Amino acid sequence: MSSPPLIEKFRQAGQGQVFAFHDELAPEAQRHLLSEAAEIDLAEIERLTASLLAPGAKASVNLEGLQPAPFEPLVASGGDPAAWARAKAAGEAALKAGRVAAFTVAGGQGTRLGFDGPKGTFPVTPLKQKTLFQVFAEKIHAAGIRHGHPLHWFIMTSHQNHAATVAFFEEHRYFGLDRARVHFFRQGRMPAVDLNGKILLETKGTIALSPDGHGGSLRALERAGALDLMQREGIDTLSYFQVDNPLVRCIDPAFIGWHLNRRSQMSSKMVRKAYAEEKVGHFCVQADRLVVVEYSDLPMELQCQKDLRGKLLFEAGSIAIHLLDRDFIRDMTRPQPGRAVATLPFHRAAKKIPTIDTSGRPVKPEQANGVKFEMFVFDAQPFARNPLVIETSRQDDFSPVKNADGVDSPKTARDDQLRQYARWLLANGAEAEVDDTGLPRVTIEVSPLFGYDEDSFAESWKKLARPPAVADGLYLS
Ligand code: UTP
Repeated sequence: MSSPPLIEKFRQAGQGQVFAFHDELAPEAQRHLLSEAAEIDLAEIERLTASLLAPGAKASVNLEGLQPAPFEPLVASGGDPAAWARAKAAGEAALKAGRVAAFTVAGGQGTRLGFDGPKGTFPVTPLKQKTLFQVFAEKIHAAGIRHGHPLHWFIMTSHQNHAATVAFFEEHRYFGLDRARVHFFRQGRMPAVDLNGKILLETKGTIALSPDGHGGSLRALERAGALDLMQREGIDTLSYFQVDNPLVRCIDPAFIGWHLNRRSQMSSKMVRKAYAEEKVGHFCVQADRLVVVEYSDLPMELQCQKDLRGKLLFEAGSIAIHLLDRDFIRDMTRPQPGRAVATLPFHRAAKKIPTIDTSGRPVKPEQANGVKFEMFVFDAQPFARNPLVIETSRQDDFSPVKNADGVDSPKTARDDQLRQYARWLLANGAEAEVDDTGLPRVTIEVSPLFGYDEDSFAESWKKLARPPAVADGLYLS
């Protein structure tokens, strides 16, 4: 019997090993393997192998002419108060008009945290142990009420965590959100290859596929019909954030206003690096284009370089919070007549990839045996018109849960949430005892439904007939 045409295509592309065990599989397993193989763009893999894996392939990052990127500073660090006020008013008007939707990328594998389940289902708040998804849901819900227009929320999942993510929302009745406004879609996958570019099998009947990076979100939005839905609903701006950051202002009027007032197609938040070697991407300008250079690609001498005033030259760190214009995403993903799509580049990451040997036995490698390909969303910036970088305060926007312990862990995120609640309370006249890092001595919690930023907190606090004393177990909801 002749092989299906897809198997022939793989053989001709030098990837016949993908079907090495095909004939021993049951018919259902054969169909499954063929459907996984059908997801793979063989020409793309060949191109990536040639450009990223070939001996002497040039480093994907070119550092020529790299300069620090300009950014809009906060009022507290010299920004123009009137321009910030105008931005906030414009953002509020856009929210009122329903032009903005929230967008969470939640397709990552969360290997460093080592939590069994989608990362969004990780309990993160200090007192009530609310999950990341619940925190975002309540912030989005509250922002919708405050601005008089309920928001749509797009959530990108992966093949691995899609079903568990949707089931979690079902189980919790969408945390009070209108389920018709919560939209899940899966991101794309890419096969892992060995160091010679051969696609790896995970088992005899499955390919080693993994999510194609947060940059895959742009084409996934288009593929899932999210851009069409946005258009129908009159939404032109997506507020993009990661699933791991409980402090994020999911909806930030001033940021939105800056983006709209400057007619930017993609805007990003930055914080000043806490120290020279901090492991964040760096906002830079190269040949008049805004780029983010990962810390691992920026030589240490540049990371540490100071200007004449002794300030870090490359001080603007990326915290993966962006605003994206709908039509920009469309341009980046849908071919137009006479114009090629400006695809995001893939990056390679050497990894230990569980696979099988030539006789089909499982192999758990001790060191990197292959490469995964991922796209990064910030690589869209160079293609955007008027890309903008806006400063934010770290303590009110960024405390990710990446690792099981140490930096960026559940403990640091918990403490940063507590510090934020204490700041809000103190700013509104409450008495709270804090240590010299601002950490309150008691465990308290503020529900996003009570206050999700300084303004909303202050409004709710003022409405309290008898403000409660700050004591262990205080929950403001
Ligand atoms: P990270 O870079 O922290 O990766 O993702 P990760 O996969 O979640 O975690 P590790 O590296 O395995 O420990 C940053 C954000 O981008 C999303 C993640 O869900 C997180 O919100 N992401 C990452 C995707 O949505 N898809 C991807 O393919 C990769």
